Amino acid sequence: MRQQWVHGDKARIHDRAVIIFCGRPERERAAPRAVLTPCGLTRPPGGKGVRCGPMSNKLLNSAAKSAVVTGAGSGIGRAVALALTDAGWSVALAGRRPEPLAETAALAGEHARVITVPADVSRPDDVTALFSSVRECFGRLDLLFNNAGAFGPRSVPVEDLSVADWHSVVDVNVTGAFLCAQAAYRLMKDQDPQGGRIINNGSVSAHAPRPHSVAYTTTKHAMTGLTKSLSLDGRPYRIACGQIDIGNAATDMTEQMRTGILQANGELAVEPVMAAADVARTVLHMAELPLEANVQFATVLATAMPYVGRG
Ligand SMILES: NC(=O)c1ccc[n+]([C@@H]2O[C@H](COP(=O)([O-])OP(=O)(O)OC[C@H]3O[C@@H](n4cnc5c(N)ncnc54)[C@H](OP(=O)(O)O)[C@@H]3O)[C@@H](O)[C@H]2O)c1
Repeated sequence: MRQQWVHGDKARIHDRAVIIFCGRPERERAAPRAVLTPCGLTRPPGGKGVRCGPMSNKLLNSAAKSAVVTGAGSGIGRAVALALTDAGWSVALAGRRPEPLAETAALAGEHARVITVPADVSRPDDVTALFSSVRECFGRLDLLFNNAGAFGPRSVPVEDLSVADWHSVVDVNVTGAFLCAQAAYRLMKDQDPQGGRIINNGSVSAHAPRPHSVAYTTTKHAMTGLTKSLSLDGRPYRIACGQIDIGNAATDMTEQMRTGILQANGELAVEPVMAAADVARTVLHMAELPLEANVQFATVLATAMPYVGRG
């Protein structure tokens, strides 16, 4: 596989996949952003006349459907990104850290059509840059998997949770999900053919809390409101919105399920988990339905986890 580094470490061109790093280190955030074009050339913000090489033309002319997956560098986001690329989708991989995104891109294989776009979904400018890159590279957007999320500090009682910790969860799980949905909605409304699908990643915590999870549980209930509002407001524009509520997929976030997690009765217990790939198969099914059909809510959980039946 041929690899070429262009413009420092920001753009890497593979034979069959273009990987673009559009994010910037924290220390450069005050500087004007150079927009990386699909062929790895840079142009100033607002600059005209993007020149694209043969590789990017392949991306732009592709008949493949295109998707944004946030939180694509790990866990469920990575599993969904790989399911989509395996099914022939063009996928923009987003998350804060470039390295895990590059790992997901590598796992997708050299024939995958992927771009990696480091972005903090709670930052409006990052989200704008992410969706601009998608429009530039893929021409349209068919799917947003609104997946990036944070649990926040574990086992902190309500009375001890700091406002900063509350915001760290709300900013990602609610504001970030809204910003990405809004940017996707704008693209989907304006593109021709019009429409697309947004799949929000809720949780079984959108229905029932774990002990000491007030920020996470509140935000996941809020996700249900986002899903319902987007579903209603999207109807005139062929924008479908559904939600997947997951319980105990084996990821970094659920590490404690395997070692012992606090139960409602105050005891610690190890809980069953399932593979993230089994969630990804459900998301792929939701994604590939025609826009005339929508899975409004789907619950996928580890079969024997304590959830149904009061424990
Ligand atoms: N695993 C489960 O059983 C389960 C159950 C219910 C719901 N969920 C939901 O599934 C989603 C993914 O979780 P996971 O289990 O796969 O855990 P994970 O591996 O920790 O994934 C979280 C992802 O979100 C990204 N992220 C966090 N903050 C971000 C930000 N500000 N901007 C952009 N990306 C951000 C992280 O990447 P960076 O750190 O690089 O940004 C990471 O890739 C979450 O919304 C979670 O609530 C999971």
